[in-house]
Amino acid sequence: MSLTKEKVLQALSTVEDPDLKKDLVTLGMIQNIEIEGNKLSFKVVLTTPACPLKEVIKNNCIEALEDAFGKDVELGIFMTSNVTTTRDNTPLLPQVKNIIAIASGKGGVGKSTTACNLAVALANTGAKVGLIDADISGPSVPTMFNVEGEQPSVKQVDGKNIIIPIEQYGVKLMSIGFLTPSDSAVVWRGPMASSALKQFIGDVEWGELDYLLIDLPPGTSDIHLTMVQTIPVTGAVIVTTPQKVALADATKGLTMFKQPQINVPILGVIENMAYFTPAELPDNKYYIFGKEGGRKLAEKFNVPFLGEMPIVQSIRESGDTGYPAVFKEGLTKTAFSELAESVARQVAIRNAEKSKTEVVHVNG
Ligand SMILES: Nc1ncnc2c1ncn2[C@@H]1O[C@H](COP(=O)(O)OP(=O)(O)OP(=O)(O)O)[C@@H](O)[C@H]1O
Ligand SMILES: [Mg+2]
Repeated sequence: MSLTKEKVLQALSTVEDPDLKKDLVTLGMIQNIEIEGNKLSFKVVLTTPACPLKEVIKNNCIEALEDAFGKDVELGIFMTSNVTTTRDNTPLLPQVKNIIAIASGKGGVGKSTTACNLAVALANTGAKVGLIDADISGPSVPTMFNVEGEQPSVKQVDGKNIIIPIEQYGVKLMSIGFLTPSDSAVVWRGPMASSALKQFIGDVEWGELDYLLIDLPPGTSDIHLTMVQTIPVTGAVIVTTPQKVALADATKGLTMFKQPQINVPILGVIENMAYFTPAELPDNKYYIFGKEGGRKLAEKFNVPFLGEMPIVQSIRESGDTGYPAVFKEGLTKTAFSELAESVARQVAIRNAEKSKTEVVHVNG
């Protein structure tokens, strides 16, 4: 059968995006079809560069084209991506496609560790990534990115001071730690912390971003409220450890976002410190804090389970030395990269299935 654009589109309309449950042609993912004799080339524009289904989709395209045209066609399939968004032209952060809050309930469960490694893992896939450290009284980002003591430069735009974020490991960063000496005992009252967060959102030159991650403080504080009142949050990732006390707090964190007046979609639950594996006994897993608590929490609330992270000494060490664990070949790199893929995948699904998040308005 001879190649025509129409026939190619017809063949490719049998290939579904397994997550979005629609065919690639309907989704507008097939672009730049070029035909020259028996040579066919086109682009498949995925919804994220972190797409874990890249190979599956490519192979399904090849199969569909071979079914339609036989094996003699010389194929050039270019897999690219354009991260989706539900945000429209809002005055704040108009070039930021997705805002992802990293929350827990309980403190110390690994929100900051997760946020930092997810940010780097997403940037490693080629996405444009920013990270706001919204923990104003206990910032972790400067240490975890080894940029303690750095001071961002400020420029004037229309008479207003605009902060240039610090960039490290391909991620744009903003933290109160860049604006105050690290050993100063600043007591941040609620309103001061809230205005700092508003400044991080409104007065920082974030530029174009696919994903802006917000590392939240523990609990359900003023900061959480300020965030949802300032900016439409694409979705929240809930980090928990498996023990009962952490799960009870994670439930509070999760239900806060689900409240009808807040209505921020839950992208999923990450179970951190899920088990311990000694380096010398890699097949032994010790469920120190109980088993599968995060997974069960996700099931109970019918939200995606994004994955589990073992307790690994090098994760703690990398946090302390400011060289994220996702850079270390092996278990931690694989686990954080897979987590990043899961998060990016859920963002794409959320954007396809749900309407945009609205900023929360509080009366009075
Ligand atoms: N999977 C893990 N394996 C080993 N250590 C971990 C792991 N996850 C986090 N940690 C360590 O646990 C400590 C707490 O983690 P982190 O600061 O990320 O938690 P947090 O939830 O952000 O805390 P806070 O509520 O204070 O903001 C850190 O020292 C971190 O390095
Ligand atoms: Mg933290």
